[in-house]
Order: sequence, then C-alpha cells, then structure tokens
Amino acid sequence: MRLNGKTVLLTGASSGIGYECAQRLAEKGCRLILIARRGEILKQLISQLPAYSEPHIYYSADLSSEADIRNVCQKIISANIPVDILFLNAGVGTGKYSSFEIDYDKVLYTFKVNFFSIVLFVKYFLPVLKKQRQSMIAVNGSIAGYRGLPASASYSSSKAALMNFIESLRIDLWNTNIKCVLISPGFVKTPLIANNKFFMPFLMSVDKAAKIIVRGMEKEKPEISFPFWFVLIAKVARLLPHNFYAKIMYGRR
Ligand SMILES: NC(=O)c1ccc[n+]([C@@H]2O[C@H](COP(=O)([O-])OP(=O)(O)OC[C@H]3O[C@@H](n4cnc5c(N)ncnc54)[C@H](OP(=O)(O)O)[C@@H]3O)[C@@H](O)[C@H]2O)c1
Repeated sequence: MRLNGKTVLLTGASSGIGYECAQRLAEKGCRLILIARRGEILKQLISQLPAYSEPHIYYSADLSSEADIRNVCQKIISANIPVDILFLNAGVGTGKYSSFEIDYDKVLYTFKVNFFSIVLFVKYFLPVLKKQRQSMIAVNGSIAGYRGLPASASYSSSKAALMNFIESLRIDLWNTNIKCVLISPGFVKTPLIANNKFFMPFLMSVDKAAKIIVRGMEKEKPEISFPFWFVLIAKVARLLPHNFYAKIMYGRR
C-alpha cells in the first residue's frame, strides 16, 4: 500500500510506539488523526510534523469509555474525513499480575482499552473504510497474546482476544478492499514496560520498532511480528503440550 496521501486514524499517539509511528507515517506523507487522553502532547507532536494540504488533527479521549469513543468517532465521521487506515495501537499493560488476587475492575479496564475500544472503532469505521479504494485495519497486539504468559492472565488474555478478533475479521473481509493487519511486538523500550522488574529478552528500541511496523504496513503484511528470534521461540512454544508448557513457565512467574 502506498502510504503517501492516506489518512490514518492512530490511537495511543501520545507515547511510545504510537508517538514514533506518527512521526514515520507523517514523513511518508500521511495525514494523521491522533487520539489519546493527553491532548497537549498530541498538539505538540502535530506542531512538529510535516504538514500537508489537509492538516493533522487530534482528539483527546479516554478509550476505556464507550461514550468517549462514540463521541470522537461521530465527530470524525460527521466531518466527512476519509479515513483510509485505522491504526488501533493504544493499550495498557498490567505489570506482574497475581492470579491469586484477581482484581476484576483492573481486568475489565485492561479489556476495555486493549480489546473493546478496538471493537468499537471497527464498528464505527467499517462503513467509511469500505468506501475507500484501498483501506486497512491495523491493531497492535503482542507476542504475549500467542499463549498465556506467567503472571499475565489479564494482559495476555486481552491480546489473545484481539488476535482472534482481527483473524476473524480478515476472513470476513477477505473479498473486500480492507486489509487486516496484526502487529505483534516483543519487548519495546517504552513507558509501558519501564517498571517491569523482570528480564526482558530481545528488548528493542522504539525507533526500530516503528520502522518495522510502518514498513510492514506498506507491504500489507497480515502479521508484523518482531524481533525475529523472540517470535520464533514464542511460535514454537505454541506447539508445546499444555502441561509441559506450564511446567517450564512456572519458574518465570
Ligand atoms: N512496549 C512493549 O514492549 C509492547 C510490547 C507488545 C505490545 N505492545 C503494545 O503496543 C501498544 C503501544 O504500547 P507502548 O509500548 O507504546 O505504550 P505507551 O508508551 O504506554 O503508550 C500507550 C499509549 O496508549 C494510550 N492509552 C493508554 N490508555 C488509554 C486510554 N484509557 N485512553 C486513551 N488512550 C490510552 C496512551 O495515551 P494517554 O496516556 O495519553 O491516554 C499512550 O499514547 C499497546 O497496545 C501495547 O500493548 C507494547
């Protein structure tokens, strides 16, 4: 897909992967609609981006709130902004999470941001995407969604739900103009993982991650997963028998 001239709605653009991808996409000639809670950061980011005939815009919204999402989607749709790419990147981590002390509200919040916000954006924008010549839904999952990880029952399951959601969408939209892209990063150096106390193998810079993501979007890859060796290990681990997998992961809680 030629990114030049495309309008991209990007969530979670105020930090980390989203912030970096916003810069790369603008350099590629995309017009951006940026969304996050911290509007001041988005405003400042826009002031630094290369500008085109149509200005980049931003909306401040809390993606754990259905009302906020509906409100922002309606504003964009009623302004007739021709969104070509939905890049649903915003997400929250949970750090180490004890399955012995399940905090339902925290799990619900994680699912609202990491999963249900994506369902809502897709619901509202599918009719818009259908009208474009070439369009894309790209969601930011995680290698953590491949298989349940230790002390990650909340985050892992929210990303697993997202993986299956985009996989089902890809089938249902197969014969349409809409490409479905799953982004599956390993550890990327952003504020999301800054407080992790455990060892993070194959940790990657956010700059490199953004380059890989934008290149993958241009190539319309169904899955943009990285770094290579971590993905390989994680995909092989998917083949392990359940009890064997649980036993070797037990020590990593
Ligand atoms: N970093 C990693 O190692 C890693 C690995 C695999 C997958 N990922 C995924 O990559 C995506 C981006 O993560 P990141 O590492 O770039 O994290 P980050 O630096 O913490 O950025 C998260 C972004 O999501 C937005 N966000 C969070 N909660 C929100 C809410 N309730 N409403 C609106 N926006 C919200 C934040 O904006 P505001 O705070 O301004 O609202 C921020 O822009 C996430 O989906 C994450 O799960 C990250």
